Amino acid sequence: MQVFSKFPELKTTIFTQMSALARECGAINLSQGFPDFSPHPKLLEAKCKAMKQGANQYAPMQGYMPLRERIAEKTQELYGFVCNPETEITITAGATQAIFTAILTFLNPDEEAILIEPVYDSYLPAVRLCKGIAKFVELNPNDFSVPWQQVKKLISKKTKLILINSPHNPTGSTLKKKDLQELEKLTKGTDILIISDEVYEHIIFDKQSHESILRYPELAKRSLVISSFGKTYHVTGWKVGYVVAPENLTAEFRKVHQYNVFCVNLPAQIAFYEILKEKSLYEELGQFYEEKRNFFQKLLQSTRFQLKKVEGTYFQLVSYEKITNEKDIDFAIRMTKEFGVAPIPLSVFYSKQNDYKHLRFCFAKENETLEKAAEKLTKI
Ligand SMILES: Cc1ncc(COP(=O)(O)O)c(C=O)c1O
Repeated sequence: MQVFSKFPELKTTIFTQMSALARECGAINLSQGFPDFSPHPKLLEAKCKAMKQGANQYAPMQGYMPLRERIAEKTQELYGFVCNPETEITITAGATQAIFTAILTFLNPDEEAILIEPVYDSYLPAVRLCKGIAKFVELNPNDFSVPWQQVKKLISKKTKLILINSPHNPTGSTLKKKDLQELEKLTKGTDILIISDEVYEHIIFDKQSHESILRYPELAKRSLVISSFGKTYHVTGWKVGYVVAPENLTAEFRKVHQYNVFCVNLPAQIAFYEILKEKSLYEELGQFYEEKRNFFQKLLQSTRFQLKKVEGTYFQLVSYEKITNEKDIDFAIRMTKEFGVAPIPLSVFYSKQNDYKHLRFCFAKENETLEKAAEKLTKI
């Protein structure tokens, strides 16, 4: 039997490859973005309790209502956005499913989606599965700001979607008020939809506040805003996230969602409902990771890597220009094998694999892990 692949040239993601290589070589894995520390015990207890009390069957398709209500309260408190949890919030199997379902719901063949590079790896395959056309804009390589004039040039009658991500993986940059104002100007009077990936909304540093789309009513009307509990509560393996979108968009989203996953792990949803009561856990998350960022940056000062500014997320981008001229993928593999630390090469986030000699390290790790990694990195 001949198999006709929809993605003949696509390989397993670099995150899977680098994590496997790290395991094989016994290297410290700073590649894939996940913490090596435990979630809050109350979260674990709440999930166990929910299972023991019988919450083991299908959840409602839209998500566990008390959790949606709590999310609505939180978005109002944080961003001043009032929404109806019945019709405007849907719980998803992580942000990845939310993004995938959102693209699948709205993008038709030959319609265009604007992606801003370097771009999180799951967006483009979804666009391609819809037979949509991806239009790429590159962040300014110096400060990773969005060149809005170039975005403007790409907008046409065929533009259906713009995908944004802030705080941004892999660069650690954030969108500012003026960025959101530009986006509002560019999309005003059009039918363009925005998918806003805000999974690192609470991991933002230096007293900045997160510029959620939900702070901008005109933008919120045309947006699907996506977040993930995996990032906020150190449980990336639980895969629970959510989408906030106006009723008309949510109704369409759910038509696809119900045949995509139907519903999401119920005991986990109950546990997130319980833990969301502890506001300090998300309010203080930025501070927690800011200390890790500072700690890691200090350690890296005794290496030959040059550090890029990190405004949010748990990723540190570094330049290795002064160390070698090797391609970033080759250097990342060699570093893992010879020096025992696994990074992610930045080029994998570009459609044309632009090689700016940058690597990404995840610092969502115990300080001890970061110290051990830094010790190895000083030998390079
Ligand atoms: C920018 C971005 N979006 C989405 C995701 C996926 O989130 P989830 O694990 O909830 O699917 C990640 C995970 O690394 C991410 O960095």
